[in-house]
Amino acid sequence: MSKIIVRGGNILKGEVNISAAKNSVLPIIAGCILSDDKCIIDQAPMLEDVFVISDVLRSVCAEIDVNRKDSRIIIDSTAIKDCEPAGELVRKMRGSFLLMGPMISRFGRFKLSLPGGCNIGTRPIDLHLKGFSALGAEVNVGHGYVEAYAKKLIGSKIYLDFPSVGATENIMMAAVMAEGETIIENAAAEPEIEDLAKFLNSMGANIIGAGSGTIRIIGVKSLRGTTHRPIYDRIEAGTFMIAAAITRSRIKINGVNEEHLKPVIAKLTEAGVFIKIEGDTMVVDGTGDLKPIDIKTMPYPGFPTDMQSQIAGLLSTVHGTSIITETIFENRFMHAAEMKRMGANIKIDGRSAVIEGVNKLTGAEVRATDLRAGAALILCGLAAEGETQVTDIYHVDRGYVDIEKKFQGLDADIERVNV
Ligand code: EPZ
Repeated sequence: MSKIIVRGGNILKGEVNISAAKNSVLPIIAGCILSDDKCIIDQAPMLEDVFVISDVLRSVCAEIDVNRKDSRIIIDSTAIKDCEPAGELVRKMRGSFLLMGPMISRFGRFKLSLPGGCNIGTRPIDLHLKGFSALGAEVNVGHGYVEAYAKKLIGSKIYLDFPSVGATENIMMAAVMAEGETIIENAAAEPEIEDLAKFLNSMGANIIGAGSGTIRIIGVKSLRGTTHRPIYDRIEAGTFMIAAAITRSRIKINGVNEEHLKPVIAKLTEAGVFIKIEGDTMVVDGTGDLKPIDIKTMPYPGFPTDMQSQIAGLLSTVHGTSIITETIFENRFMHAAEMKRMGANIKIDGRSAVIEGVNKLTGAEVRATDLRAGAALILCGLAAEGETQVTDIYHVDRGYVDIEKKFQGLDADIERVNV
């Protein structure tokens, strides 16, 4: 186990390089099993979640080489079997459920442990299962497992009651070699969906409209191997944008896609942060007077829920009243109790958080309750007076590569301590 210790008050300076997107590389790794040919993922983020999903694939006999030095993943699914993946691995990471679509597509049957909920919500999978059923699969849930059988998958029209990212990805991967055409309506439009479709199309799939609310998938006979470099991680980039703002610093962020960050850029600009983009590089200047703003998380292209904890930390340091409404997950304000230990003034009322900015946060021992809450507490520690210790840092390592090293590169007084 390790914890991160931050001694607050340093002005950040210099530049930071953003890694590839966790939420892009996880479905892409799952999608590699759709072909017997080798697939190569370049510039892959060396994250805990990547190592876990790689172990899940190994548990169904895929061969995966994760080269940490070169940040390259090579996947060979020739020997893959439709056996049940190790339950404790699947329960360790919900993203493992993304194997369901590819495995049904490839083998016509698959059984795996139901993904648990997590701290931010119950995380149901009903929309995934609705899609598999619409494609002709027989789906059974019971005894903590989900099983699906399909002699043949037939293209269908599927309406998603909610633009679920995972359900859109799972259904897309189940449909790529189904007979005929599949249309997903009210599909998620996140950039990671577009990146997955680009990856699958480079394997020979025929997917049109990914990134819009309606995606068409015309089934093909087979897919070939490919090499793919995932998009930059817009949530990591957004986290470092908030780091500049919360410490009232000016930093450079290398590896941004302006289009993918539009909602974050718009809201931070509204708060008084100065942002300048040239190509895939961004200068973020938080040295001006910042003002309170209201935030409502929405499916893309709305403000991302994965940035909610981080901006709550920033708004705790901005004089005035800010209101955050979390519309995606039912329990994503657990960071508030921890931030209050640092002197933040946050009142939770159902899906809303009312934040009164305070003069100064003070260092304290706090606990990372989930991935983005942990990152947000580190940001608060950077701005707080005194020392902050963030425990349960394994949550943060699921989604950020070497987070303390990246902040050290920006002159933050931060270290990781093994306990
Ligand atoms: C993905 O999770 C991301 N994870 C999450 O990032 C992100 O917060 C989320 O999308 C929303 O953007 C990965 O991509 C690996 P959803 P996912 O299905 O696919 C409801 C992070 O911090 N829903 O879009 O699980 C669900 O309850 C993580 O990087 C159903 O009702 O999210 C929730 O309220 C956290 N039925 C909403 O949709 C379903 O079948 C959003 O869930 C599926 C989802």
